Amino acid sequence: VQSSLLPKPLLGKKILVTAGPTREPIDPVRFLSNKSSGKMGFEIAWACKMLGAEVTLIKGPTQLSPPNVHTLLSVETADEMFEAVKEVFPQMDVVIMTAAVADYTPERVSKTKIKKKDYGEENLNISLKKTQDILKYISRNRSSKQVIVGFCAETENLIENARKKLANKPVDMLVCNDITEKGAGFDKNTNKVSILYGDGSKIEELPLMSKANLALELMNRVSSLL
Ligand code: CTP
Ligand code: CA
Repeated sequence: VQSSLLPKPLLGKKILVTAGPTREPIDPVRFLSNKSSGKMGFEIAWACKMLGAEVTLIKGPTQLSPPNVHTLLSVETADEMFEAVKEVFPQMDVVIMTAAVADYTPERVSKTKIKKKDYGEENLNISLKKTQDILKYISRNRSSKQVIVGFCAETENLIENARKKLANKPVDMLVCNDITEKGAGFDKNTNKVSILYGDGSKIEELPLMSKANLALELMNRVSSLL
């Protein structure tokens, strides 16, 4: 799409997008992470820019290169992402929480490489503690003028689970992925989502489409909520 031909419904708006996975270190050579590629978040960041917004992108470690945006912050861990979001989110008109933030992180990080010989024939157990739920924090500390969008990845009972998430962390839009559906979810170029609205007004089921088009569809809906 030639951007000069697009209408600019987000002109002058400050938008924070988070994207990609986080990485939770176990020792100097190992970490816990997930399958997020960052693609959906990067498409959203790009769409926001194309629609006229000033975009801040906070990304976890990805193979893909991020789009060229106003401010790019690279983080590793859920904790670093939380600190970065906390710092910038009060200035934002819109927050889109696309990142697949780790829910748990190792309770202790070994300073040295964990060695098999230290465990002999025993299993190695790693104790995990809960991370801060960033979207929950935002939902509790937002202003009513801000538009907040969450994502949700499920492998079963999509709408039921999404409703529970919306009740626990109220946002204006919750974009729900059934990652078991063909053409949806991690590291694909397409996605198929349902959108729940915070006011309980409706559930919208969108057809399978490219992540680039989905990003534009989502951001057009966000602009009508602003
Ligand atoms: N999220 C977050 N901070 C976390 C975990 C999740 O901000 N520590 C955000 C994600 O960015 C996403 C939303 O919460 O926008 C939902 O993420 P999801 O993993 O689907 O739901 P959870 O609430 O973490 O529940 P569960 O993983 O148990 O399904
Ligand atoms: Ca989660």
